Amino acid sequence: MIEAPATSIPEACDAASRRVYVITYGCQMNAFDSRRIVQVLQGQGYAETADPAMADLVLINTCSVRDRPEKKVLGTLARLLPLKEARPGVAFGVCGCVAQQHGRDLLLRVPYLDLVFGTDKIADLPRLLTQVEAGDRVACTEVMPRTDYAFVDVDPSVEHGPSAFLTIMKGCDRYCAYCIVPSVRGREVSKPPHRVLAEARALIQAGVRDLTLLGQNVNSYGKGLAEPVDFVSLLEQVAALPGLSRLRFVTSHPADADDRMLDAFGRLPVLAEALHLPLQSGSDRVLAAMRRGYTREAYLARVARVRAACPDIALSTDMIVGFPGETEDDFQASLDALEAAQFDAMFSFKYSPRPGTVAAGLPDDVPESVKAARLARLQAAQDVITARRMVRYQDRVEEVLVEGTSRDQGSSERVGRIAPGMTEYFGRSRTGMVVNFAVPRGTPDPTGTLVLVRIDEVLVHSLRGVRVDARAPEVGGTHGG
Ligand code: SAH
Ligand code: SF4
Ligand code: F3S
Repeated sequence: MIEAPATSIPEACDAASRRVYVITYGCQMNAFDSRRIVQVLQGQGYAETADPAMADLVLINTCSVRDRPEKKVLGTLARLLPLKEARPGVAFGVCGCVAQQHGRDLLLRVPYLDLVFGTDKIADLPRLLTQVEAGDRVACTEVMPRTDYAFVDVDPSVEHGPSAFLTIMKGCDRYCAYCIVPSVRGREVSKPPHRVLAEARALIQAGVRDLTLLGQNVNSYGKGLAEPVDFVSLLEQVAALPGLSRLRFVTSHPADADDRMLDAFGRLPVLAEALHLPLQSGSDRVLAAMRRGYTREAYLARVARVRAACPDIALSTDMIVGFPGETEDDFQASLDALEAAQFDAMFSFKYSPRPGTVAAGLPDDVPESVKAARLARLQAAQDVITARRMVRYQDRVEEVLVEGTSRDQGSSERVGRIAPGMTEYFGRSRTGMVVNFAVPRGTPDPTGTLVLVRIDEVLVHSLRGVRVDARAPEVGGTHGG
């Protein structure tokens, strides 16, 4: 799963009596949860603010997947402390995966922290806040049994823009040897399909065109549900909703990505040509120690299958270097696997022991300097492959879903990228590439619509081009790039 930056927020409405400022670390799951938290708080009379100095409640939604995340949380809280001194009524809360992991300990370590709530407790926020408002310091991190887990239904009014996430399941039952997610997110629970469909319909109705279904391992969707439904049948049902232009999902586990799922890329036109399939290592020995449940050969067969179904698909992956016992030969196998798979993009990480995981019982024996050197070598190798893959976009006409004006308009003008009198917009291609294009100022704002852009410049991680359609094409899924 890809880590998302902090969410950007339009300024809050003035009518609300109280304001919440949310900082989000971690993956899309946390980004999604932050939206649900804001939604639940709206029901309690809060509005979201982008200015921490205005906030009555400051929440940090945390990630514990790597490094010393608790250190980061304590650092962030210390940085925010002056807010509390300036405005004594303001409450501080920590939620997400570090909260789930450390619970009440955080209250003991940070005397000015008011609230700690776990990943299963979003629906309980109103009750917890009442206690905080009564002057209590509250920690609530109970993990809900599978049967009692309460998903918070999406209210589209808290989403921003034409792209949205939708959780279809929570938790993970795979227990990869290095991973803390199963212990901080609990067991897998799938959301019933009728609820997924109702939420997807509501989002589409509100203008969402590009929908990403979320889960730690979406391929095991459906386990434990009353109705017999699996991930591919859910995909088919969402794909059939009118008005949706692009459907995506993260994350797929390679061992559970079966032929039916991979072949869906060839038969469901609305499925965007992009797949994130974390490999983690190219060495069979390391993959076995990681308990990933596949070999390098089996993984590459998945890649070949999905490319046969959808030749233009953009593949991305996650890699870990320096797993316990990783030798130079094992690492070389990872480099070779990148060459064999030809990913469009890679997210790579130095192995970081996490408490309570199987791998934490193994010696963390790859020295930090070796981990750093391997990470740099892996990234350099992928940079060459990414550049090679990017060339295919040159002169192609891409369908772009416009997300807004480019953030770097000012600096682009200064370096002469945008001619005077032009406004630059950005959006994403079906393969997920960021595409920038400029139109004369005064042109109707294309934000939220699909436009066609001929690519005339391929940059390192983005594309630039010229809009070539007279007006936005009809929505509804055109296959291919
Ligand atoms: N369920 C998702 C998300 C896992 S966390 C998945 O399976 O892809 C996102 C990524 O973080 C993982 O794919 C892995 O590459 C990395 N990661 C997880 N635990 C890690 C650890 N202990 N050290 C380093 N990287 C880790
Ligand atoms: Fe972690 Fe593995 Fe589950 Fe992904 S599939 S969340 S890496 S245990
Ligand atoms: Fe996501 Fe980090 Fe939690 S990757 S599930 S926010 S540990």
